[in-house]
Amino acid sequence: MPTVKSSVKGKRPVRIGVAGCGQMGRKHAHNCSRIKGVSVVAVADKDMKRARALAGEMSAVPYSSAEALLAGVDVDALIVATPPDKHGKDAHAAIKAGKAVLVEKPIALDIATAKSLCVAAKKASVVNAVGFHLRYAPLTQKARSLIAGKCVTQVRSVTTTGYYLKMDMPAWFLQRKHSGGPLLEQSLHMFDEARYLVGDITRVFAQGDRLVRPELKRFDSEDTMVLAYRFANGALGTHADSCATTVFNWEIELFGTDWRLLIDYARKRLNGYFGEETIHIDFTDTDLHMLELQAFIDDVRNRRVDSILSNFRDATKTLEVMLAGDRSLKSGAWEPVGKGTR
Ligand SMILES: NC(=O)c1ccc[n+]([C@@H]2O[C@H](COP(=O)([O-])OP(=O)(O)OC[C@H]3O[C@@H](n4cnc5c(N)ncnc54)[C@H](O)[C@@H]3O)[C@@H](O)[C@H]2O)c1
Repeated sequence: MPTVKSSVKGKRPVRIGVAGCGQMGRKHAHNCSRIKGVSVVAVADKDMKRARALAGEMSAVPYSSAEALLAGVDVDALIVATPPDKHGKDAHAAIKAGKAVLVEKPIALDIATAKSLCVAAKKASVVNAVGFHLRYAPLTQKARSLIAGKCVTQVRSVTTTGYYLKMDMPAWFLQRKHSGGPLLEQSLHMFDEARYLVGDITRVFAQGDRLVRPELKRFDSEDTMVLAYRFANGALGTHADSCATTVFNWEIELFGTDWRLLIDYARKRLNGYFGEETIHIDFTDTDLHMLELQAFIDDVRNRRVDSILSNFRDATKTLEVMLAGDRSLKSGAWEPVGKGTR
């Protein structure tokens, strides 16, 4: 495994900075405080009220930006939990300062930014990770072991939320310039799983519309989408996304000639059959963000890339798939993955 630079020396605590003190920044900060030998020493948010509130809970120093945080306090790693259109700037600031960096998904909203982060992280030799927490799920790991060596012919995936019905999310989630729309905000979790479980995706076709709440003009994101996709190994996939259903669903179902496996993240359940054998496994509630964070901290502490399951390079491949989908929404045609920057 490659050795990387890290400023963590001996057994002193790992010092973390958190940029973005909204729901995910708060979650990561509180999870850090539950890991022995880890302390959140500084937090940043453009909303100083949020920064001060989280800083108070963590006994940390509040700042108004990631750059100010990095200039003011010596940290070993920065967790970037700002909206996606800010990830590039904040992550580049951390890399420039030689710090390890965990960026929430998506790595960025465009390929140029994502690739520049890959190049900078490699050149600076810093530990880098992107927040695809589902990869760390015991459910995912069990599914991977069950399908190991099997030929997957089809994939069916689903993401549904109640955003347009409940308005229980930050407004920017449904504003394309900030989030990239539901393809990059929600669907990419299942496409990243599809890539992790089956392999690279080469072409995407997408159709989407505003069918449920078209009168909400301050939002420009689709509420209903369907996609078809093809893997490099020939398998075919379909995906359905809705931001206007009352019940939350995140699921991916894999098919072979004599087997079928449904990974149901919302109900924490694996269901299916392999030939004559029936599978039904219920999983206990596990904090997947904690597993993801623990892997990042282990790699920062050990100066090695052993535990992280999604780094900048891999997350950029998932982004390329989603951007092909986004181009297809506009062109109405199948779009190749990895061509174009948006
Ligand atoms: N993996 C998951 O399960 C999951 C879940 C939700 C969100 N996310 C991701 O986490 C990231 C943050 O999402 P969230 O739900 O916490 O959003 P949020 O709106 O709750 O929090 C974002 C925070 O960033 C602050 N901010 C905005 N611009 C800033 C800037 N330039 N500098 C400093 N602070 C700034 C905002 O004031 C806000 O407090 C996004 O990338 C999102 O896609 C991941």
